[in-house]
Amino acid sequence: MYKIPDKTLLIGKKIISLPESESTNTLMVSMSQHRLLDEGTVIVTDNQTRGRGQAGHTWVSEPAANLTFSVLLNPFFLEPSNQFFLNMAVGLAICQAISDSVPNKVWLKWPNDVIIQDKKVSGILIENQIQGQVLSQSVIGIGVNVNQTHFAWPHATSLKVLTGKDEDKFKIFETILVRLEAYYNLLKAKRFDTLKKEYYTVLYWKDERHQFEVKGKKIEGIITGLDEVGRLVVLAQGKTSHYNFKEIRFLY
Ligand code: BTN
Repeated sequence: MYKIPDKTLLIGKKIISLPESESTNTLMVSMSQHRLLDEGTVIVTDNQTRGRGQAGHTWVSEPAANLTFSVLLNPFFLEPSNQFFLNMAVGLAICQAISDSVPNKVWLKWPNDVIIQDKKVSGILIENQIQGQVLSQSVIGIGVNVNQTHFAWPHATSLKVLTGKDEDKFKIFETILVRLEAYYNLLKAKRFDTLKKEYYTVLYWKDERHQFEVKGKKIEGIITGLDEVGRLVVLAQGKTSHYNFKEIRFLY
């Protein structure tokens, strides 16, 4: 059962639980256009049939095994130039919630893949709407591989694969909502430095030499951090460059 958390005031106070949905993000975006949803509402399904990922990719999730849900936020307090701090808050919340279930270090691969032992365990799709100078709406789509054990993609993993036992997806769901509210409050308080500092402690490949692909060419470089608008900063051959999503690919 997806339970309304006792420990939140906003997030998850309304939960719409559906046996099947094409995409909880698509549904939430469409319902919110009709102003049908309050901030903090969650749409969750046990069978997402046309899940969407970042950059037009699909998100495939075995029915009943995993978590697939979306959360509605209205971060009117956030300027569009600071929107990456929302990504950080969401990523950190999931990272922390997942860390409770596994003994391994949980990383965030920029911009927002959750990685354990070099494999992806969770993906986040954030769809923002801007009104004038503020973010009026954000649909936070979260997929966590919990109890699925076979994947078509070799870079995917799940909590069950890592722990060797069935995990309680309902408990993980509740923990994510509680942590999300805590980080969202930090964001509301404009604690940007705290968020960035914490994000850096889990930023995958930070300060390590690795290979990347940029404009079809292989480069070797070191991630030194993010710039003020959330672009990835990489030092390669003595030169620092700033990349948007899709301008740089991590090579394993
Ligand atoms: C990614 O890693 O590319 C992002 C994956 C996001 C998947 C979640 S599952 C719930 C929500 N609904 C969707 O259609 N996508 C997100």
